[in-house]
Amino acid sequence: MEVVVLETPAEVASLAADTIEDVVRRREATGTPAVLGLATGSTPLATYEELIRRARDGRGPSYEGVETFNLDEYVGLPDGHEQSYLATIRREFTDAIGIQPERVHGPDPTEETLPAAGERYEAAIVAAGGIEVQILGIGSDGHLAFNEPGSSLASLTRIKTLTATTRKDNARFFGSPEAVPHHVLTQGLGTITRAGHLLLLATGEGKAEAVAAAVEGPVSATCPASVLQLHGHVSVLLDEAAASRLVRRDYYREVYSGKPDWQGL
Ligand code: GLP
Repeated sequence: MEVVVLETPAEVASLAADTIEDVVRRREATGTPAVLGLATGSTPLATYEELIRRARDGRGPSYEGVETFNLDEYVGLPDGHEQSYLATIRREFTDAIGIQPERVHGPDPTEETLPAAGERYEAAIVAAGGIEVQILGIGSDGHLAFNEPGSSLASLTRIKTLTATTRKDNARFFGSPEAVPHHVLTQGLGTITRAGHLLLLATGEGKAEAVAAAVEGPVSATCPASVLQLHGHVSVLLDEAAASRLVRRDYYREVYSGKPDWQGL
């Protein structure tokens, strides 16, 4: 995996935006629009804002025909709840950048069809041709999407129960930890690692420990994000604070600064 240590969250957002735009442009040139994997949470927001800014300034590629797949969704929220991840991604990114709502997908938490929701989501991703680039954040407990510690490294989309830590972390969106749903649908770690390119973004001191465990610790279900070590094309974009617990920090800096211009992420 390639670890890129940048100075600020803004630099992380800018490099992530460059990477997404490259994929969208490259695919546009082939006549088959890109399939993007999107993450919610606070971390990717700056990247989405940067992409929207560039599109508004006329510097971005066309997002016509681009299809997106969310990583996960809460189960049990009332219909149209503003904190559902589908509503969130539309509000924070896809509507503003001009991706048609019918091309924006997320796991479907409708109660009556819940048992088959995972299988249906897997089939939808395959039918779209697979996810070319997947944006990822990381939970403070090392979770990816909503794959909590202990998740099978081969898991596919399914229902999961959130840990108390994650419900506490996400309480800021709901007012209190008690208001955060207990259950979710999430792409599995096996689903995530089928994407062509994984782009993990992490900023701030609060993520430093989880990042160190994922990047330099053992591959283990105890740290779900460590599954990234098994994938052939992973870029980990960090600001200084999120990189602060990495033992090989200086080496990653040396590698990145000596990278040839022709080699993208
Ligand atoms: C949530 C999401 C993850 C996200 C993580 C970190 O629980 N399900 O996809 O990566 O938490 O969120 P944040 O970026 O807000 O720290």
